[in-house]
Amino acid sequence: MSEDMKKKISIVTGATGGLGREFVRRLLNEDIDEIWAVARNVDKLKKLKEDYGDKIIIVVTDLSQDKSLDLLEEMLQNSNPIVKYLINNAGGGRMGSSDEFSREEIESHVMVHCTTIATLCNLCIPYMQKGCHIINMASQSAFQPVPYINLYAASKAFVRSYSRALNVELNCRGIVTTVACPGWIKTELLEDKRNGKQIQFPAIALAEDVAAKILKDAKRGKDMSVYGIYVKWMHLLSKIFPHKLVMRTWVKQIKEYI
Ligand SMILES: NC(=O)c1ccc[n+]([C@@H]2O[C@H](COP(=O)([O-])OP(=O)(O)OC[C@H]3O[C@@H](n4cnc5c(N)ncnc54)[C@H](OP(=O)(O)O)[C@@H]3O)[C@@H](O)[C@H]2O)c1
Repeated sequence: MSEDMKKKISIVTGATGGLGREFVRRLLNEDIDEIWAVARNVDKLKKLKEDYGDKIIIVVTDLSQDKSLDLLEEMLQNSNPIVKYLINNAGGGRMGSSDEFSREEIESHVMVHCTTIATLCNLCIPYMQKGCHIINMASQSAFQPVPYINLYAASKAFVRSYSRALNVELNCRGIVTTVACPGWIKTELLEDKRNGKQIQFPAIALAEDVAAKILKDAKRGKDMSVYGIYVKWMHLLSKIFPHKLVMRTWVKQIKEYI
């Protein structure tokens, strides 16, 4: 099939969440034939399709499971599309000391946040060409180790490091990889209360603003997207100050919740 005849698609994991829905909404304005929306909850995926129409192709899969990418691999082989955007956005996490996490929770966290991202990139790259984008969701927590969201932060550090190196590798093919490192965003991912106390999230942002900035940075060819002055400042501090000091300050801030 000639390149012109191929279907142009985008894949968005975690498409039903706060950020995911915003990515989907914005991609509808692009020259894309289908958006493959990936998540576990069928009802939320159906609602997404209801809201955004026939371009949405529902892909129900649990990315924490071993064979979770088999379906997507088969869909790619059958359609042989051009993957204009791969947005590895699915994720979750919670506060807690490391010994609170079960073996299953650790394994599934690493699977969703690390293994799946690297594997899905490799599955999609053969279907990409000049001008295509990979966007991988990390977080501000990727800048240094973060006690009490240790596993989450460590997995996001993996995503950041992996994505920046991948961008260099794919540069010669005109494919841009952007890692997004936002701070707090108002979505269902954030816990409201801990220890009976309302958690205060400094400089919390709206999902629509963060998604818009990430897509803008990706189109500009940036390898990293950082939203807002607060996070830019934190990024700088993490480069200047010893991480021991940054961690100590963080622990003081969250002491009342743990
Ligand atoms: N909110 C923040 O403050 C913040 C800050 C920095 C970075 N981030 C990152 O941004 C990304 C999106 O987060 P969000 O705030 O939009 O969270 P959210 O509203 O909770 O959405 C999470 C999405 O991921 C999907 N998901 C979770 N586990 C999955 C699994 N095992 N298999 C398939 N899909 C799965 C969820 O769908 P199902 O439950 O239906 O599977 C949902 O669509 C995450 O990677 C997160 O780490 C968030």
